[in-house]
Amino acid sequence: MSLPIGIHDLSFASTEFVLPHTALAAHNGTDVAKYHVGIGQQSMSVPAADEDIVTMGATAAAPLVDRCGKDRIRTVVFATESSIDQAKSAGVYVHSLIGLVPSCRVVEMKQACYAATAALQFAIGLIRRDPSQQVLVIASDVSTYEPDSPGEATQGAAAAAMLVGADPALVRIEEPSGLFTADVMDFWRPNYREAALVNGRESVGAYLRAVEGAWKDYTKQGGRSWEEFAAFVYHQPFTKMAYKAHRHLLSLCGRPADRDTLERDLGRTTAYNAVIGNSYTASMYLGLATLLDQADDLTDRPLAFLSYGSGSVAEFFAGTVAAGYRTHLRTGANHEVIARRRPLDHAGYRALHAWSLPADGGDHSTPAQTTGPYRLAGVSGHKRLYETR
Ligand code: HMG
Repeated sequence: MSLPIGIHDLSFASTEFVLPHTALAAHNGTDVAKYHVGIGQQSMSVPAADEDIVTMGATAAAPLVDRCGKDRIRTVVFATESSIDQAKSAGVYVHSLIGLVPSCRVVEMKQACYAATAALQFAIGLIRRDPSQQVLVIASDVSTYEPDSPGEATQGAAAAAMLVGADPALVRIEEPSGLFTADVMDFWRPNYREAALVNGRESVGAYLRAVEGAWKDYTKQGGRSWEEFAAFVYHQPFTKMAYKAHRHLLSLCGRPADRDTLERDLGRTTAYNAVIGNSYTASMYLGLATLLDQADDLTDRPLAFLSYGSGSVAEFFAGTVAAGYRTHLRTGANHEVIARRRPLDHAGYRALHAWSLPADGGDHSTPAQTTGPYRLAGVSGHKRLYETR
């Protein structure tokens, strides 16, 4: 049997603020049931003016280093589609903020929400070459659509950090992967735009076609059969999307998509995403955190993962939960990430939505809003300035 490699530790961070969907519904006259029931979202995380993918990424990653040390981390892979620079990896800022050793490679990866899975697979390849090393994978994103557009209710923000290594304490990632790529314009964000452009209906269809393609390839590669999985962790742009995707998969497998099956397979994967919103690259890994925190003992049980990124790329793969994983969970800290957010009213949310860093090259401080351990203090000569509390 080959050396087990996978997720040794997992931590996530989100934002200072949260907008309840009740406030959005009251503003735009929508029946709140459309949000709570129709798309399955309760609230969405909103970054403060002095938060970004770097501060969230560092906040998510610091607890991993505190617990597991930094000496074995020789690679950092930062997955994002909310990049802050066309050249420099956001991971280099995080590397400095959390004090990693200089003998380390740092790189940024992009393919919409899928990139964290590419980063995980890259990490596994590196560890297979040298099992004494660990790779820090950080997925960090801010999801932004135009105000008053259909996508607005599916915004959110979070970072997930994973320490990937041999003999992992949480989840062993298995070899066969089902892969799928199709060139579609369902969702995209040209470099000159802050907010993503999306064809909502097309994006849902593209996601379902990708589930089908990735699953068929997974089967062809000799993957597990549907019945073996204890749960299915999907990318969750909104939690109801996981249900749509799973119904599609069940129909491909000739299975009835009854309520009990859906709840058993998905019900324990959605709680964090329902209150954080779409965190793009981090979303599926927040689903994993929810499942590990909420489910009864999953020791040695196989989990299915469906990672999707618009544009589009998907990967279906499996992981088996390690013995003793419960002692490595961060359930209390995860609940605190959600509970500590301060609710915004609609006007406060709109003000933050409209906020952007000045681009004139001058010296500018950002309003001190966040109470987290890292903040974006300002910008000077087009350089972002971060500080640690
Ligand atoms: P919409 O068109 O305003 O909503 O936007 P709708 O009319 O389709 O309604 C949504 C659901 O609510 C429907 O259920 C309605 O029936 C229901 P469904 O038919 O889908 O089962 N509904 C109600 N339910 C209960 N009570 C009510 C009520 N009213 C309606 N009163 C849409 C929805 C998702 C299109 C929009 O939010 C959007 O464009 N979001 C952004 C795109 C997106 O998230 N796409 C998902 C797939 S693509 C993806 O996952 C990749 C992504 O994460 C990006 C990346 O990869 O980087 C986005």
